[in-house]
Amino acid sequence: MKAAVHHVYGPPEVVSIEEVPAPVPQNGEILIRVYASTVNRTDCGFRSAQYFISRLFSGLLKPKNKTLGCEFSGEVVEVGGGAVEFRVGDRVFGYDDDAFGGHAEFKVIGRQGGVATIPEGMDYSVAAALTEGSHYALCNIRSAKVKAGDVVMVYGASGAIGSAAVQLLKHFGTYVVAVVGTSHVELAGSLGADEVIDYMTQDFTQTPHRFDFIFDAVGKRSFGQCRPLLKSKGIYISTELGKRSENIFLALITPLWGGKKVLFPLPTIKKEDVLFLKGLAETGKFRPVIDRKYPLAEIVEAYQYVETGQKVGNVVISIRDIS
Ligand SMILES: NC(=O)c1ccc[n+]([C@@H]2O[C@H](COP(=O)([O-])OP(=O)(O)OC[C@H]3O[C@@H](n4cnc5c(N)ncnc54)[C@H](OP(=O)(O)O)[C@@H]3O)[C@@H](O)[C@H]2O)c1
Repeated sequence: MKAAVHHVYGPPEVVSIEEVPAPVPQNGEILIRVYASTVNRTDCGFRSAQYFISRLFSGLLKPKNKTLGCEFSGEVVEVGGGAVEFRVGDRVFGYDDDAFGGHAEFKVIGRQGGVATIPEGMDYSVAAALTEGSHYALCNIRSAKVKAGDVVMVYGASGAIGSAAVQLLKHFGTYVVAVVGTSHVELAGSLGADEVIDYMTQDFTQTPHRFDFIFDAVGKRSFGQCRPLLKSKGIYISTELGKRSENIFLALITPLWGGKKVLFPLPTIKKEDVLFLKGLAETGKFRPVIDRKYPLAEIVEAYQYVETGQKVGNVVISIRDIS
């Protein structure tokens, strides 16, 4: 089968398309014929190993999982003994940052906690983008314990995480102020934001609102900049470590002060999260924003584009022509 493979850590150009043996499902595993995947920041992080800590999971000197692609959608084509949840022919989507493998024509998955059937009528491209940004958003929103009526800022609402966060926060009944660049103001409004600040023409710190939760979804700001905008018990969460990894230290110290605090939750994904996101997709409350689509053969270009930091929502990889 064709797969995008990287044998060493490094820039997008370390990835190439190779012929590799198709995986065979073992006991408890399912084999998926992959139709679509995404190139996202998680794939980029594990490919570059820019943060050394990721090597503790992916291999100290070279990558254990040579084919990335944590998001996938496709069709179950074989079921290993003991795997009872899915049947041959099921259209499925999901997330797997243990074994990855979505950037290939076939993928096996054992732990099926991150897999669910595709909502009726949804195409493979959209289904492939249902889980990455949204599960990070969900995890952070849950950690902040938001409740209906809370006032929340989503800083950087045009990325995969931010665009999902706006939609999820609206579902949870919060008042959302989204901060985006000029070209994404309309998008942020269409996602449901109650107010939109254009960071290119306005100073977001001049907003009259005070926030229960500021979610820096692109990790471009700091607790120091956002602190004056928080209510007395307000919470700041960033998707990045911050300058000199300050967000880790602040997450250890600020909760002890009893006032405004930083949290740095470790993202997890459980079956109920995937089903929750699927449920929101089915009712039209969540739809992943899709920016560009690339064929598998152009995956290096897809990585290069994602790493410009300019993608809007998600970048889909078509693994198989389904037209
Ligand atoms: N290491 C990991 O495993 C991992 C995994 C997932 C996510 N993350 C981190 O999470 C963050 C978000 O990732 P993502 O995939 O959701 O989105 P992303 O690709 O990082 O975000 C792209 C969007 O951010 C906007 N943006 C860029 N600079 C901005 C600024 N100064 N203020 C406001 N918006 C700005 C861009 O639009 P404009 O420039 O046009 O405004 C673009 O639409 C990233 O920092 C990523 O590294 C890390």
